[in-house]
Amino acid sequence: MANLSDRSVRQDYSPALDLSTEPDQRMVRAIRPETVIRSHRIATMSGETGYGLVDGWVAIGGGRVLAVESGEVPTSWCDLDSGVESVDARDRIILPGFVDAHTHLVHAGSRENELAMKLADVPYLEILAKGGGIHGTVRLTREATKEELYRKAAKSLDVMLEHGTTTVEAKSGYGLDLVTEIKCLEVARDLDRTHPIDVISTYLGAHAVPKEYNGNTRAYMDFMMKTVMPFVRQEGLAEFMDVFCEAGVFSPEETFELLQAGHGMGFGLKLHADEIVPLQGAELAARMNAVSADHLLAASDEGIAALAEFGVTAVLLPGTSFYLMTGKFARARRMLESGVRVAVASDYNPGTCPCENLQAIQVFACMGLRMTPEEILRGMTVNAAHALRRADSVGTIEPGKKADLVLYDAPNPDWLVYHFGSNPVDVVYKSGRVVVRNGRRTT
Ligand code: NIG
Ligand code: FE
Repeated sequence: MANLSDRSVRQDYSPALDLSTEPDQRMVRAIRPETVIRSHRIATMSGETGYGLVDGWVAIGGGRVLAVESGEVPTSWCDLDSGVESVDARDRIILPGFVDAHTHLVHAGSRENELAMKLADVPYLEILAKGGGIHGTVRLTREATKEELYRKAAKSLDVMLEHGTTTVEAKSGYGLDLVTEIKCLEVARDLDRTHPIDVISTYLGAHAVPKEYNGNTRAYMDFMMKTVMPFVRQEGLAEFMDVFCEAGVFSPEETFELLQAGHGMGFGLKLHADEIVPLQGAELAARMNAVSADHLLAASDEGIAALAEFGVTAVLLPGTSFYLMTGKFARARRMLESGVRVAVASDYNPGTCPCENLQAIQVFACMGLRMTPEEILRGMTVNAAHALRRADSVGTIEPGKKADLVLYDAPNPDWLVYHFGSNPVDVVYKSGRVVVRNGRRTT
């Protein structure tokens, strides 16, 4: 491990924060801190670039970050009778909890049966067209009880939490009929209320045209727009809606119509765009002022420029690119050079990325997308928070934001991306409460 007092080490991670600033006294005085954690390397992820490293302490109370400052902890808090818990994490690095901005969390079953087809080079869209893929998971999800779906998804959330994720987006889309879509969204809502992880829901009825519509896309769209979407909004079951805009699934014209209707109902817009076939999905996301455009393996130069111009966050899913076995990854470097805000997420789902662990996704982001560790970690924190309209509350360690902090047994943030296959998470604080200790869920 590097010598932490060595100045040259600090220079490698030049702080984006002005370390000479005084503690934010108004914040600190307003709420008495409950816990003060000392660490040489607090990666605040604030500022336009870099990790915003602070060699000092972070004070938390009332579930929020109260202050993050360099230097010594104020002496009045160090007294034994101050009531402030003091945590010495000088052998740990601290990062904000990861925000996983794209998952298909709630579903039944698994699809290891597709591996043989994948190895025989049967394309993903062909498996889907033959009634497998998403349709197979829809069958199982319709049959599952709410309790079964809840238990399976809760287990997945535990894995996420133990690997440093504290906020998760969860899409529906494995029910397609009214009853099952609502069942899945209710499970996500229940998990948000009962599990430490914050779960933010997206309605993805437009994930496939269900068998009972016999390929009658028009009728299924009318059903979604007239029946399901108004109900979902009325019940407050999803903040966002998403469409799988893809050859043989929903065309750009159909996607436009669905998103326009959703916008009118108050949904924030997301889009599975240009995942396999180039359909100008990125351009459409920009035109619709979507919050994010996701996948983007086949996005055009014009589409990438449009995302940058209209401030649409690109959510890249390199675990899926790897798992599709086409050797194709999104052009992250071009996006970054064009000024697109790039988030990186898991796409956790039973077909194209059966993996809840964002640390595993970091390897594909580095080797496949060719993103630097810093770009990847920003993509899983601050940029991912933007992809969920949560940049004011999560994604960085700053006064006023949720005290979602992860303490890693690692020498520096780059190391998290570099070293793969083991889990360096030690402690996770969710809204100021310890929910993981020694890498295991506590509550
Ligand atoms: O994001 N592409 C569409 N949806 C998922 C896969 C769903 C599935 O195959 O079950 C995705 O890759
Ligand atoms: Fe997806």
